[in-house]
Amino acid sequence: MQPAPISKYAPFPPVDLPNRQWPNRTIKHAPIWCSVDLRDGNQALAQPMSVEEKIEFFDMLVRIGFKEIEVGFPSASQIEFDFTRRLIDEKRIPDDVAIQILCQCREDLITRSLEAVRGAKNVIFHLYNSTSPKQREYVFNLPKEEIVQIPVRAIGQLKRDGAALIAAGTRLRLEYSPESFTSTELEFALEICEAVSDVWGPTPDNKIILNLPATVEYATPNVHADQIEWMCTHLTRRDSTIVSLHTHNDRGTGVAATELALLAGADRVEGTLFGNGERTGNLDIVTVALNLYTHGIHPGLDLSDLNAVRDVYERCTRLEVPPRQPYAGELVFTAFSGSHQDAIKKSLPHQKPGKPWDVIYIPIDPADIGRSYRAIIRINSQSGKGGVAYVLEQAFGYQLPKLMHKEIGKVVNDLADSKGTELTADEIREAFQREYLERTQPVSLEHFKTTERDSTVKCEARITVDGKVHALTGTGNGPIDAFVRALATTDLPKFDVLNYSEHSLGAGAEAKAVSYIQVKLERGSAYFGAGIDTNIELASIKAIVSALNRAIKPAK
Ligand code: KIV
Ligand code: ZN
Repeated sequence: MQPAPISKYAPFPPVDLPNRQWPNRTIKHAPIWCSVDLRDGNQALAQPMSVEEKIEFFDMLVRIGFKEIEVGFPSASQIEFDFTRRLIDEKRIPDDVAIQILCQCREDLITRSLEAVRGAKNVIFHLYNSTSPKQREYVFNLPKEEIVQIPVRAIGQLKRDGAALIAAGTRLRLEYSPESFTSTELEFALEICEAVSDVWGPTPDNKIILNLPATVEYATPNVHADQIEWMCTHLTRRDSTIVSLHTHNDRGTGVAATELALLAGADRVEGTLFGNGERTGNLDIVTVALNLYTHGIHPGLDLSDLNAVRDVYERCTRLEVPPRQPYAGELVFTAFSGSHQDAIKKSLPHQKPGKPWDVIYIPIDPADIGRSYRAIIRINSQSGKGGVAYVLEQAFGYQLPKLMHKEIGKVVNDLADSKGTELTADEIREAFQREYLERTQPVSLEHFKTTERDSTVKCEARITVDGKVHALTGTGNGPIDAFVRALATTDLPKFDVLNYSEHSLGAGAEAKAVSYIQVKLERGSAYFGAGIDTNIELASIKAIVSALNRAIKPAK
């Protein structure tokens, strides 16, 4: 990097807009969405989609609810042309969906593009040319007047040659993009957009789409919003114009730039699913749509099975959605930190149907987008005590008493520490089983039976202690009491029962009982044990043996 002071880069010039309105506004409704996955997204793939893959992707976009879909650049390659034709010839485009095609302002390409869309019901013909000073100077070497003439001539041709299409029943709309708009002088961008509108002659019933791209993102989102507000307030045919946004993400603020520009008055948003696109990508429509949703505005897109959308996306583009991608990433509903896990667990019981979602750390109900709570908490050595209990309950139905959380939390955290990785839910269950349910050393229960007379329970038990068999009897006010008294007749350490709880696991004939019992050694600490059995009495007796074994040989 260049050492300070930096001469290699300059700040982006602000827009002179002292009366800007957008900072005081809120977004009240969803914009018109246009997916450019099959064009801008596709052209940025190392291996562009095949026709079959584009068809699968197109069908998914339709299912999601996109009403405007840029399907490609049919004059640029045979595959793009064939794809457009297949959509039309195989009647794959619902009547309420418009296909959009991109075309440079060249006579032969316009002719070829019109052939590509012949027979379609709804077409958005998207013409563009670059307008920024650098493009004008370095690439085209043309003065402003001639840059303006490029789309003006092209739109004149489109009006003439498109008449036959319209006569044959196609609704033909025009989209014009002054490419590199955000790097273009606003006055010149306005001049060229006005010239284009003059030729096309839009009306409030047949609006022109003026798409104002941040082809490369150079400025902060507030500058983008200023540029859009300036355009919205200077266009003479605002009521006959749909102002469209098309942000890229070079500074990582494509979403923010779009959201602020919606405040600034834009009507429409172009972008791609998960932000695929040239360089750092296009705007991620999923994020903007779900950001709206979590503010109580329905985006008009159905993202209720986001995993399925992601699967099609990943298969067709051969790209992966990063694990931290908002809403869709593998890890976005996973809390690693103990305090986060605790807060999530405490928030969940407060959620009531029909009331606003308000779970700390999770701004959207994962179920709304087809994702599950199962994945919310994973355990590593830094996780809090509540996290382990939460996983055991959510994934396997074990309702550990609160007092036990710390104990099991330590067992599992130590395991995570020694493994040096996070643990899966299955690994956590196995650790719980090893530590509590499968402890048979030094004491193992071989047999247990009770009889009851006059409210007194008598037990007969056979246990082995370090392999040596002991036959025991005891009486008490219940099976647990009787068993504890029977154990007191042996050399095993004496203890009291401090806590007892139980619940059923599963339902019907398969149901089992789980007991949790905490014992306290006469001279020593308290330990929990757990037992599981189809017989509830036996589940508690097993839990005592488990607690005793843990007390005699605590986990290291
Ligand atoms: O980024 C861009 O400027 C484009 C235009 C063709 C709209 O993709
Ligand atoms: Zn683009």
